[in-house]
Amino acid sequence: MKKYLTIEDTIGATPLVRLQRIPGEFGERRGNVILAKLEGNNPAGSVKDRAASSMIRQAEARGDIKPGDTLIEATSGNTGIALAMTAAVRGYKMILIMPDNLSVERRASMTAYGAQLILTRADQGGMEYARDLALKMQAEGKGKVLDQFANDDNPLAHVQGTGPEIWEQTDGRVTHFVSAMGTTGTIMGVASYLHSKNPAVRIVGAQPAEGSQIPGIRKWPEEYQPKIYRPEKVDEFELISQAEAEHMARRLAAEEGIFGGISSAGALVAAMRVAARAENATIVFIVCDRGDRYLSTGVFN
Ligand SMILES: Cc1ncc(COP(=O)(O)O)c(C=O)c1O
Repeated sequence: MKKYLTIEDTIGATPLVRLQRIPGEFGERRGNVILAKLEGNNPAGSVKDRAASSMIRQAEARGDIKPGDTLIEATSGNTGIALAMTAAVRGYKMILIMPDNLSVERRASMTAYGAQLILTRADQGGMEYARDLALKMQAEGKGKVLDQFANDDNPLAHVQGTGPEIWEQTDGRVTHFVSAMGTTGTIMGVASYLHSKNPAVRIVGAQPAEGSQIPGIRKWPEEYQPKIYRPEKVDEFELISQAEAEHMARRLAAEEGIFGGISSAGALVAAMRVAARAENATIVFIVCDRGDRYLSTGVFN
């Protein structure tokens, strides 16, 4: 019998596309090309499908979890949706803990995949509080925490998938890799792989500027920095304001036809700063998810 793909098999192998208008004077004339890696094309709509599938598959392969078990995760959104999808595919119960100020589309998507949600009050301490609560529930025997912030199988997804894809799709020409930083799984994993092929590739991390809120990414306080984070793997940091990211999200959709989220646009703001300084550069940035996940926030109005 012909072997057909499962929904989980369709994670990854996302397109890499060239921006045609936004690079402007920093583009072709300087020999620069800016390429968008479209992670919103993953089945549950974000780059997090890779990490979620990797964390569950690897834990299962080690015998740490088995179908029917309950998994718990504190998540700012995309990971929750991706875990809910993977848990549904593989037969796990999924409990997701998130601050109550995150967009309603995200919550509705998680429950659609059958996950149970626990909403914490944003004014109680946001993601830090949610992360502490997940660990407390695990200590009480209520399930197993995957902990994307400390789980090496999160960056592993990008060492095995995203990194090699970018290398192959650019025929090894990539000179700069730009990613927004949340758990830092994407930037850590892709940096490891690209540096194993060419140590000269510059790794650029986009973080929200002081006082700016960009969903999915954070400039973590020291004591909450992800355990998977290795600062020495990032060559340059770009601080992006919320206004810059939101403006660029509208431009990315209207001028390039790429409907991405706010953190994706933040990565593009950083990529443009790189292009303004560079010549003959092949700059790849991650479009983490799709813009329709943010419609209710009014950003695209
Ligand atoms: C919208 C969005 N952008 C960016 C990121 C950052 O990805 P990573 O956690 O791999 O650093 C996330 C992660 O949750 C996200 O949800």
